[in-house]
Amino acid sequence: MANASGFVSPPVQSPRLRNLHFSGFYRSGYYPFVRIPTRVFCCRAVESVEKHASGLAPSESRAPRLVSRGCKLVGSGSAVPNLQISNDDLAKFVETSDEWISVRTGIHNRRVLSGKDRLTGLAVEAAKRALQMAQVDADDVDLVLLCTSTPDDLFGSAPQIQSALGCKRNPLAYDITAACSGFVLGLVSAACHIRGGGFQNVLVIGADALSRYVDWTDRGTCILFGDAAGAVLVQACDGSEDGLFGFDLHSDGDGQKHLNAGIKDDEIERVVGTNGSVVGFPPRRSSYSCIQMNGKEVFRFAVRSVPQSIESALAKAGLTGSNLDWLLLHQANQRIIDAVATRLEIPPERVISNLANYGNTSAASIPLALDEAVRSGKVQSGHTIAVAGFGAGLTWGSTIVRWG
Ligand code: ACO
Repeated sequence: MANASGFVSPPVQSPRLRNLHFSGFYRSGYYPFVRIPTRVFCCRAVESVEKHASGLAPSESRAPRLVSRGCKLVGSGSAVPNLQISNDDLAKFVETSDEWISVRTGIHNRRVLSGKDRLTGLAVEAAKRALQMAQVDADDVDLVLLCTSTPDDLFGSAPQIQSALGCKRNPLAYDITAACSGFVLGLVSAACHIRGGGFQNVLVIGADALSRYVDWTDRGTCILFGDAAGAVLVQACDGSEDGLFGFDLHSDGDGQKHLNAGIKDDEIERVVGTNGSVVGFPPRRSSYSCIQMNGKEVFRFAVRSVPQSIESALAKAGLTGSNLDWLLLHQANQRIIDAVATRLEIPPERVISNLANYGNTSAASIPLALDEAVRSGKVQSGHTIAVAGFGAGLTWGSTIVRWG
C-alpha cells in the first residue's frame, strides 16, 4: 500500500473560510497549526542564496530559499456523446428494470460513444470549452494531462489532443492511468508541475469510454457505466492566491481482484510455455477482458476509504467539513455519495451529483459534474470544494480546492 500527502495553506477567500484566522505564512505554504507533512509541494524553485556580501554566515547562505508559487482552477469544460441509453433501453438487453437500477444506483441514463466517434474528440471538445472559459489561448498551454484508462491509442492519447487543440508552442502532453481516481491524481500532478516545474497553464482532462470494456450481457456491471470527457485549466498564480489546499492519495494493489479489466489470460498462456520455452511464438495480438467487478466489495471500500481520505486532506489544509461549500465525489453510485456525505456530516444541498444523467464515467465524472455545477451557477468563484476519486487499482484520493 502506498500513499502520498501534501498541503498548502489556504488564503481566506471562500465565504466559509472568511471567519477563520490563519496566521501562517501563506507565501511559503506553511501553516503552523497543522502537522507538517512529509511531502510539501509548495515552491516553484529552491534557490541557493549566495549572499556572503550581505553578511550571512556560510551555513546560512547555503540554506534553501523557498519561492512560493500557487495554482488555481480557472476554467472548466465537458463533452458527452450524443447516443443516450436509458435504463429502459438496457432492460431490452439484460434482465433488469428501471426501478432496480434507479433504486440501487441513482442512475437513469448514460451516454455511449458510437460510430466513428472517438474519445480524443470528446476530450478536445471539453478542453476547448475549458480554455474558452479561462480565456486562455491554446498556444499558452504548456502541459496537457489526459487522465484516462481507455485511450484511443495504447501509447497514450494526450499528444493527439495537444495536436488537435493546435498548441503550437509544443507543450508536454502525457496520459495518467488511475481509473476513476485519475482526475484527482491529475489535479495534484498539475499542481506539482506548476509549483516545482515552472509550468504556467496545465490542462487536466478526465476522459473515459468504459463502454468499450463493458460486457453488455452482464447486468451486474453494464448498468453502471457511461462515456464522457471533462477538463479543467489549472493556472500558475501568486502563492497568496493558491487554490489547492491539501491532498491525500492512496493505492492498494491487493484490491485489484475486486475491480479490473486485465489482459486476457488465455493470451498470456500462449506467449510463454509451461517450461519457459518459447511456445506459440509469435504471440497473438493481446486484448483486455471486460470489466470484472465485485460490486459489494467496491461499495464497502469506497464508503470506508473515501471519508478517511477527505478528512485527511481537510486536516492537512487546516480545515473541517464545515468549511466546505461543496462535496464532489467520483460519480459511481448515489448510495456511495450519500453514505460518504452522511459520514462527513455534509448536508445533501452541499453535495454535487449528476450521475442520474451520465452514470459512472470514470475519470471524466468529477470534471463533468464540476463543469455543470460551475455553468449552472452552483459553484462560484471562491467556493471551497472537497474532491474525491476512487476506483480500480485500487486507487483513491482527495484534494481540497478553491474554484476560481
Ligand atoms: N438488475 C436486476 N437485478 C440485478 C441486477 C440488475 N442490473 N444486478 C444484479 N442483480 C441481482 C443480483 O443477481 C442479485 O440477485 P440474487 O439476490 O437473486 O442473487 C441481487 O440483484 C443483488 O445483487 P448485488 O450485486 O448484491 O446488488 P447490490 O445491492 O450490491 O448492487 C451494485 C450492485 C449496484 C453494482 C453495487 O454493488 C455497487 O454500486 N457497487 C459499487 C460499484 C462501483 O462503485 N464501482 C466503481 C467502479 S469505479 C472504476 O474504477 C471503474
